[in-house]
Amino acid sequence: MTELQAAVAAAEAAALTTIAQAADLAALEALRPELLGKKSALRTHMKGLGSLPAEDRPEAGRVINDAQARVEEAFAARLAELREADLARRLESERIDITLPAPAAPAGSLHPLTLTLLEIERIFVSMGYDVAEGPESETEANNFDLLNILPHHPARDMHDTFYLEAGGILRTHTSPVQVRYMLAHKPPLAIIAPGRVFRVDDVDATHSPVFTQVEGLVVDRGISMAHLRGTLDAFLKAMFGEDVETRFRPSYFPFTEPSAEVDMRWHGAKGGGGWLEVLGCGMVNPAVLENCGIDSREFTGFAFGLGVERFAMLRYGIPTIRAFYENDIRVLRQFAS
Ligand code: DAH
Repeated sequence: MTELQAAVAAAEAAALTTIAQAADLAALEALRPELLGKKSALRTHMKGLGSLPAEDRPEAGRVINDAQARVEEAFAARLAELREADLARRLESERIDITLPAPAAPAGSLHPLTLTLLEIERIFVSMGYDVAEGPESETEANNFDLLNILPHHPARDMHDTFYLEAGGILRTHTSPVQVRYMLAHKPPLAIIAPGRVFRVDDVDATHSPVFTQVEGLVVDRGISMAHLRGTLDAFLKAMFGEDVETRFRPSYFPFTEPSAEVDMRWHGAKGGGGWLEVLGCGMVNPAVLENCGIDSREFTGFAFGLGVERFAMLRYGIPTIRAFYENDIRVLRQFAS
């Protein structure tokens, strides 16, 4: 009996020491089978009870059970202690100072089309122009008739223009802003009119059903083609650099007479290059002035229209118009200032 008691006491003491020495939760958990499992030293003694005289068995069983209970208690206590230490360490390392200012939201940046438009506006405003705007849904009269685009002109085809069920259309160009402005103001006048325009077009590298134009209009006494040339030359040089070359090519628009297209010379990387059309322009057709209540014997004017996407593509070397509408953050980020 005393022999067994001594052995149990030794096993208990060993178990308690091992528990006390477990340095962290993982180490303690690793000891669980050895100390509390079916094959622990104390449970092995339990199995040996059968070989004791019957009258000694109850007392021996109690001694072993008490020792086992103390080991379990010590294990639970150490477990609780280590858990608490672990929690305290995590709380310390993951501490958040809620009095610190929150990190700033990432600042957005202006879209390359907006940047290009702002530059165009800056140049014309510096030459004394006002910036005018008109609605994106227009009357057929403003978009076509008053601009001398007659009923059978192909631009008026259902396939080229979005007709609205409620009447009217989505404007196909910013030229109707000329009409609106002339109907509301007396010359002298000098405006640019930026805005979105709409055409029934499929998306490809250079076309989109929605794109952006800037219209220009100057009306005064004695305005001539020379003013038009000088203005556009100054504008393109301000936009693309002093050494830019431009040329005027005869063209046709119903709302101007004479009409021209302006080409700009570009230089390719491998010495190539060529002329690229960048805008349409002309002297305001006297019929348009009269339609808008301006006496064409007293006043003359010039007008022009350009596509902002094309300007932005040239300015930044962007190869496809799609880049402006996909809003790929990797593309847009390159324009953050
Ligand atoms: N409205 C024309 C278009 O969208 C562009 C244009 C050409 C505008 C000549 C003008 C102009 O004011 O004079 O294709």
